[in-house]
Amino acid sequence: MTGTPQTADRIEVLISAEEIAGRISQLADEIVASKPADLLVVPILIGGFVFAADLIRALHAAGLNPEIDVLMLSSYRGGKRSSGRIQVLRDVEAGLADRDVLLVDDILDSGRTLAYAKALMESRRARSVASCVLLDKPVTRAAAVDPDFTGFSCPNTFVVGYGMDLDNRYRELPFIGRIMQDSD
Ligand code: IMP
Ligand code: MG
Repeated sequence: MTGTPQTADRIEVLISAEEIAGRISQLADEIVASKPADLLVVPILIGGFVFAADLIRALHAAGLNPEIDVLMLSSYRGGKRSSGRIQVLRDVEAGLADRDVLLVDDILDSGRTLAYAKALMESRRARSVASCVLLDKPVTRAAAVDPDFTGFSCPNTFVVGYGMDLDNRYRELPFIGRIMQDSD
């Protein structure tokens, strides 16, 4: 193995690691100000794991001690197209009754994933189900959903990095970027 990149793709940085870190500490302050009680943070896998890892440490720095569980959903069958159908690949095991739940996801696109996750958590008698997404794409939603906490508005283009992938690649990038086309 060498440190040579595996692909020749050129990636344009849209949001830098520093900008992400700064916004996450603001988001943690906003979440703390909402005064959650018995907070359960639920990252939506896979894409939400990098954001959630930084967000929970920012929550700690801001004075919260949340419990963490994960929900793994699948809606993308590969490439840049959503299938529209959602499957639960790994369900939350923690009890939700009378707790404040915070769903954490990387990006809100059609809204189907978050709407599905929210309905699932609400069906388990959580006291409240809030959501925090790092990026919000300004598109017409297929499902009505309004995140409680949003990091950045995202250009209406397919993005990678900071947990987000193209066929499971580029999740490791510390920034959010766009794969450049030959014409760029
Ligand atoms: P939605 O159900 O259409 O809102 O899609 C949400 C999920 O699709 C996110 O959790 C991401 O995993 C994925 N997704 C949507 N847009 C992008 C993108 O531009 N890049 C990478 N993943 C995306
Ligand atoms: Mg996702």
